[in-house]
Amino acid sequence: MNYTEKVMDHFLHPRNVGKIDNPNAVAEVGNAQCGDIIKLFLRINPEGIIEDISFETFGCGAAIATSSMTTEMVKGKHIDEALLVTRDVVAEELGGLPASKMHCSNLASEALHKAIHEYKAKYNLH
Ligand code: FES
Repeated sequence: MNYTEKVMDHFLHPRNVGKIDNPNAVAEVGNAQCGDIIKLFLRINPEGIIEDISFETFGCGAAIATSSMTTEMVKGKHIDEALLVTRDVVAEELGGLPASKMHCSNLASEALHKAIHEYKAKYNLH
């Protein structure tokens, strides 16, 4: 299986791993087929900017690389802008993923969208 250098870099040196202090949006998503799980922690400021974000992923290399890349791509962005980050955008930013691993990029983007939607619902933002 061929992974790009970027995928290998994010897999071997994942960014934003662990739990940030005082997250105000958290989401967990799992893949029932492989059993992999990702948990995302976000701290969103009153202006809607993602001040900090981190992840804990119990999963395959591609899931870890896409989690890492997702956090890097949305840190410092407004939540509405962050919602434009989909699994395809993340995979593209990594230079592509093998077809059999495309589903792995679901976890991080799904968790990101879930966390933001729950945050918006909690604070009545539309
Ligand atoms: Fe489960 Fe990649 S094999 S997320």
